[in-house]
Amino acid sequence: MNKILFHTPLRDKKYINNVKKLLDSKMSLHGPGENIFKIKSELKKKYGFEHTHLTNSCTSAMEICALLLNLGKNDEVLMPSYNYNTTASSFVRTGCKIQYCDIDKKNLMPTFEQIKKYVNKNTKVIIIIHMQGLPVDYLDELQKYCKSRKIILIEDAAPALGSYVKNKPVGSYGDFATFSFHETKNYTSGLGGLLVVNNKKFKKQSDLVFDKGTDRIYVTSKPNYHKKYYSWITLGSSFRMGELNASYLQPQIKDIDKVISYRSQLYNRYRKNLSTWLTDEFSICNKIHHKYKYNYHAFTIILKKKEREKFLKYLKKNKIIAFISFEALHLSQYGKKLLNSKTSLNTTNEIIKKIVRLPMHNRLKLSEVDYITKKIKDYFHK
Ligand SMILES: Cc1ncc(COP(=O)(O)O)c(C=O)c1O
Repeated sequence: MNKILFHTPLRDKKYINNVKKLLDSKMSLHGPGENIFKIKSELKKKYGFEHTHLTNSCTSAMEICALLLNLGKNDEVLMPSYNYNTTASSFVRTGCKIQYCDIDKKNLMPTFEQIKKYVNKNTKVIIIIHMQGLPVDYLDELQKYCKSRKIILIEDAAPALGSYVKNKPVGSYGDFATFSFHETKNYTSGLGGLLVVNNKKFKKQSDLVFDKGTDRIYVTSKPNYHKKYYSWITLGSSFRMGELNASYLQPQIKDIDKVISYRSQLYNRYRKNLSTWLTDEFSICNKIHHKYKYNYHAFTIILKKKEREKFLKYLKKNKIIAFISFEALHLSQYGKKLLNSKTSLNTTNEIIKKIVRLPMHNRLKLSEVDYITKKIKDYFHK
């Protein structure tokens, strides 16, 4: 058995040919060109995302949100501590406060109650994480709750493109949603991201922040715009996805359903094999639920005992590369400085060292899933 990798980027001759087509043409590699426009229009058609920016990462998309919201030093942004660090750092650098909340061990996301516990008059933003692509399933209620309190809702949907809640795509509930096309995600441009701006109030300003704080987008795309040359209007940065990266991603967008369908086979094989063999040694945490449609980004288990390092070492010895997902922010060197002493993160603390993500990618074979599950069985039964 060859080494089984944790992930590999999506790869197909058609994707490579599309990059070649761009390189062989005289078109700009910077863009925006045909590929960027096609991706945006496909996402609009498929998911109803009207106002989007293709960025160079999900982190950049979150940084745009932070710049747009311009929070003050007493304003609070509420998010789970079990999270990716740049979701927090995007806001920390603008000078506001971060309030962590705990998560539920059944799906590694906060319950609605766990979120509400930390809302106060200073809460200006709530960021929910669609953990490993699995959607938060109370988005309707959360959206209403945030609207009634004038709190901005951001969906950090980094790996969640293609997941739905109650037949509505993830990314269509928040004032903003951010996605990643990093090579570890289901569809990839190497590095890349997407910002969906649903709140009308921020659409125009987002166009400026996205493009280095300039009005370049209007100068280049609106023939009757009152200026001939673009100039610096507001604070922004270089957040754009290049046309070259987009040329690899563009044909994948058409393949999203195909990609998800294959991953669902892998996921179901893991589930079937593991649930017949084992119930006591671990639980499967990204379970499917009738309220949503999953994009099968990951297959994650939570061990009953704190033996993750031993388990990962055993898998590695058997040529299986599994991974830990995130570390909790409040346990990191920088993130612990943001922890408010009154915050209780009991579940996060209890399970953080027990979470294991198993290999999941479109070049993984069903026979390899059988091998992985067999080795897991051997581990627990020896
Ligand atoms: C929840 C979450 N947010 C943000 C990011 C950052 O994405 P990117 O690497 O595209 O900046 C990740 C990366 O995996 C993530 O999982």
